[in-house]
Amino acid sequence: KMIYLKDYQAPDYLIDETHLTFELFEDHTLVHAQLVMRRNPTLSADLPPLVLDGQQLELLSVALDDRELSAADYQLDDSHLTLQPTAASFVIDSSVRIHPESNTALEGLYKSSGMFCTQCEAEGFRKITYYLDRPDVMSKFTTTLSAEQHSYPVLLSNGNPIASGSEEGGRHWATWEDPFMKPAYLFALVAGDLWCVEDQFTTMSQRAVTLRIYVEPENIDKVQHAMDSLKKSMKWDEEVYGREYDLDIFMIVAVNDFNMGAMENKGLNIFNSSCVLAKAETATDAAHQRVEAVVAHEYFHNWSGNRVTCRDWFQLSLKEGFTVFRDSEFSADMNSRTVKRIEDVAYLRTHQFAEDAGPMAHPVRPDAYMEISNFYTLTIYEKGSEVLRMIHTLLGAETFRKGSDLYFARHDGQAVTCDDFVQAMEDASGVDLTQFKRWYTQAGTPRLEASASYDAAANSYRLEFRQSCPATPGQAEKLPFVIPVELALLDAQGRELPLQLVGEEAPVGRSRVLQVTQAEQAFTFINLAEKPLPSLLRGFSAPVKLSFPYDRDQLMFLMQHDSDGFNRWEAGQQLSVQVLQELIGQYQRGEALVLDQRLVAALRSVLQDEQLDQAMVAEMLSLPGEAYLTEISEVADVDAIHAAREFARGELATALFDLLWQRYQANRELSRSTAYIAEFTHFARRSLQNIALSYLVLSGRPEVLAACLEQYEACDNMTERLTALAVLVNSPFESERATTLAAFAEHFKDNPLVMDQWFSVQAGSTLPGGLARVQALMQHPAFTLKNPNKVRALIGAFAGQNLVNFHAADGSGYRFLADQVISLNASNPQIASRQLSPLTRWRKYDDKRQALMKGELERILASGELSSDVYEVVSKSLA
Ligand code: ARG
Ligand code: ZN
Repeated sequence: KMIYLKDYQAPDYLIDETHLTFELFEDHTLVHAQLVMRRNPTLSADLPPLVLDGQQLELLSVALDDRELSAADYQLDDSHLTLQPTAASFVIDSSVRIHPESNTALEGLYKSSGMFCTQCEAEGFRKITYYLDRPDVMSKFTTTLSAEQHSYPVLLSNGNPIASGSEEGGRHWATWEDPFMKPAYLFALVAGDLWCVEDQFTTMSQRAVTLRIYVEPENIDKVQHAMDSLKKSMKWDEEVYGREYDLDIFMIVAVNDFNMGAMENKGLNIFNSSCVLAKAETATDAAHQRVEAVVAHEYFHNWSGNRVTCRDWFQLSLKEGFTVFRDSEFSADMNSRTVKRIEDVAYLRTHQFAEDAGPMAHPVRPDAYMEISNFYTLTIYEKGSEVLRMIHTLLGAETFRKGSDLYFARHDGQAVTCDDFVQAMEDASGVDLTQFKRWYTQAGTPRLEASASYDAAANSYRLEFRQSCPATPGQAEKLPFVIPVELALLDAQGRELPLQLVGEEAPVGRSRVLQVTQAEQAFTFINLAEKPLPSLLRGFSAPVKLSFPYDRDQLMFLMQHDSDGFNRWEAGQQLSVQVLQELIGQYQRGEALVLDQRLVAALRSVLQDEQLDQAMVAEMLSLPGEAYLTEISEVADVDAIHAAREFARGELATALFDLLWQRYQANRELSRSTAYIAEFTHFARRSLQNIALSYLVLSGRPEVLAACLEQYEACDNMTERLTALAVLVNSPFESERATTLAAFAEHFKDNPLVMDQWFSVQAGSTLPGGLARVQALMQHPAFTLKNPNKVRALIGAFAGQNLVNFHAADGSGYRFLADQVISLNASNPQIASRQLSPLTRWRKYDDKRQALMKGELERILASGELSSDVYEVVSKSLA
């Protein structure tokens, strides 16, 4: 069943107070809810039926104003409890029995590694009790939970603890009160045998806040990095957004079984343990950075999401796009701004652009959905963040801050829409964003074609832009977007020239933002004594596919001289794409592959540049991934893409061996002589060291094997160890590969997060026989389909990253994935639906593969009763 934004109606009734009591037992849980309700005063005075949401609940009793109701007084179906109020204000009391101990969907109340925990966003609260489970119904919550004391010494919920005690029979209880009104999706409860690390933060108005991170006892040594990240986030949100924390206590709990990264429940964030736990010996640099980013993201939600929340789920990007923008700026401030931007843009272009080009394409504010869980997408999060970044670019940092201050002040305690957000930005800036708002309503990735001509006689330079946007499901025609294009014009020495448009009295800066608002639009710059080279879309100032007819020599020039770090990298990527596409063509025509030596020369000068940030060197040495090359292909030739890219890597490794070896050894020596620090100068150094090693091993030389084994054995951190392992796994050194894999598994068998890495490294190996290896690994004792991290580590990594093996011409990879989706559909629909996405990209492939992929989608459709999650994705993919 489709749900439409246009059908939105305000809630008939409100819930002023919610009093919950949970009695947690091993084989069931009892939930008592007292709801203090009233008719929505903005609607008429009559009293329509009250329709409460509820799923998989066993109703034990329900009372209206202390009057016990009998079955004749209400209607019950599999998702609603309907009854008739008799006064404008009333109290509902209900008791239900639920079964967290057998909840494998990990939505609502469930058990993970022996502890009770919850995940209510988006619509999980209805699996806990009968309620108005919608974000515009906000209530003040009091929660009492009781459990057996020995197994569940820690009892947590939102807000502040107000009372606790013991009961007969070894049980105990605790009551928590959350003074802030919140929708049910922000409710949380935890009961378990947990240890915590405690710290303190003093807010800008000198209030002391207790910070606690709860984990299973064996993980207590892996919490400090998350705690440091939390304190940095709290400080940053005060400094950059003026946002202060509002409760006396802030808690994070790490759980092993979690469908997503983490959840911003008020005062009690619940995290996938992969996004909390990090220490040098067991977590990579990337994992450390992810922990920092996710801790910040969830903390920032306290304002962008909790204090101001969403009116309905169509507005999801109101909180997610904004909060991703906030966390990415935070990470940029904590680490290298340019490197963070490169990572985000590479991710967006590879994955969100693919989503935009596929059957699930939807606008940042969708107007219809079947299952909201399917809309926690790259479009809502990452493109949503780009939309906020564009507003920031158009308004400038200071005005943007005025707008966000106005938004938070105006809507504190409310459930609002994306329109309300933009309105606040307009009111604070005086800028009309009417046309800009098309970014919220039109799906698809706009194309922006630019061309230029220089008039030597007039000393003028004319830049022409042409924008268009491909059709997406339900949207054939698109209107022009507002596209902010940050640019500079470079002279022959690479210096930025003064930018003066026709009609301007004087130049306005040397790097500035133009707004392309029409389908076709030209800008003429004057007073240019020589023909400039443009540096366009600096910092990726809009999420579009820009094309400009650069030749390879111009791209090499930009790689060396552009003063915008992002565009230096971008020039290298474009050069690589041109060179790789040439190789792909040669491969398809059966010709010998010949690498354009300009790419070698360009990367040589990057490697020789000792001044350049080492993380930048590493980024520039990374060729565009196979998934990105797929995304930019009309029809992706999996084998040609893989062969071309591997050929280029091999050629580069040979040609640049000495330089790579030199830089590898210098950095490995530093790693040997200094202790690990989770700090970006160290990240940078190790990223160059590690990409160098991954090239060097392609030489097959014995000294590289020796270096790899030395790094594996002697390092003090997971970044170096896992890289050494990954390099061996993809190398021709067969016996070392097997021994190292076995040694790694033996050493880390008790650490599930490290074993996830071990599974992933093997799932990603593009050597022949990938599917058989994955199938064998599914039998490994550390693997289980019940744990989402394991599913992602093995099945997700195989289908998403091992493109040659997944797309095997016989369809075996597709059949395998469909089998897993069918089995996950029954146990965990959200995970099933997410794992499905590689099959939805069938349009990118040749006819034979298309038929095989569609065949598997049809097999899933016919496989029996499908969850709404899987049904929506499969049916839209086949439409
Ligand atoms: N709001 C969470 C976050 O972005 C994500 C929760 C998503 N949950 C879900 N079941 N789809 O931090
Ligand atoms: Zn979020």
